[in-house]
Amino acid sequence: MNVRWIEFKDIVDKRNDERPMGHLTPIEGLKDVPFEIKRIYHITRVPENTIRGFHAHKALEQVLLCLNGNVKINVSDPFSKEIFVLDNPAKGLYIGPGLWREMYDFSPASVLMVLASDIYTEEDYIRNYREYTEYAYEKSKETANKI
Ligand code: TYD
Repeated sequence: MNVRWIEFKDIVDKRNDERPMGHLTPIEGLKDVPFEIKRIYHITRVPENTIRGFHAHKALEQVLLCLNGNVKINVSDPFSKEIFVLDNPAKGLYIGPGLWREMYDFSPASVLMVLASDIYTEEDYIRNYREYTEYAYEKSKETANKI
């Protein structure tokens, strides 16, 4: 599956008196993430036991970072599934196109930030799981035919 961790810089500056100053993580489009960042959104104040997502994107690429707290993400296609725990603001999860995702176990006060390769369009979403599996099978056949 086209999903992987990206480790960003975690800059921990100390000034002259050696007191810690906190962490700074810069993220540049096309350099730290493999696409131009056209949209950023964040998800906050998620009530306990909420599961979000339940969709795939046809073309959109995303990087997800949990800036505070932690959250789990189940990424799957009809052939495999992986669960990722996001709990580090300097580590992003890249999710390529065509993968189903579900986000759950949002800790209280968690902040999930998403960097996206394109602006919002509902046409890029597949929200019906049956439709998604048919789409993913077709895509995998196309890929197999090209080899
Ligand atoms: P959705 O992507 O389904 O959220 P999640 O995957 O976290 O459950 O989006 C939820 C709602 O917000 C949906 O009505 C579409 C809207 N939305 C926008 O208007 N703009 C955006 O950039 C995003 C991501 C969602």
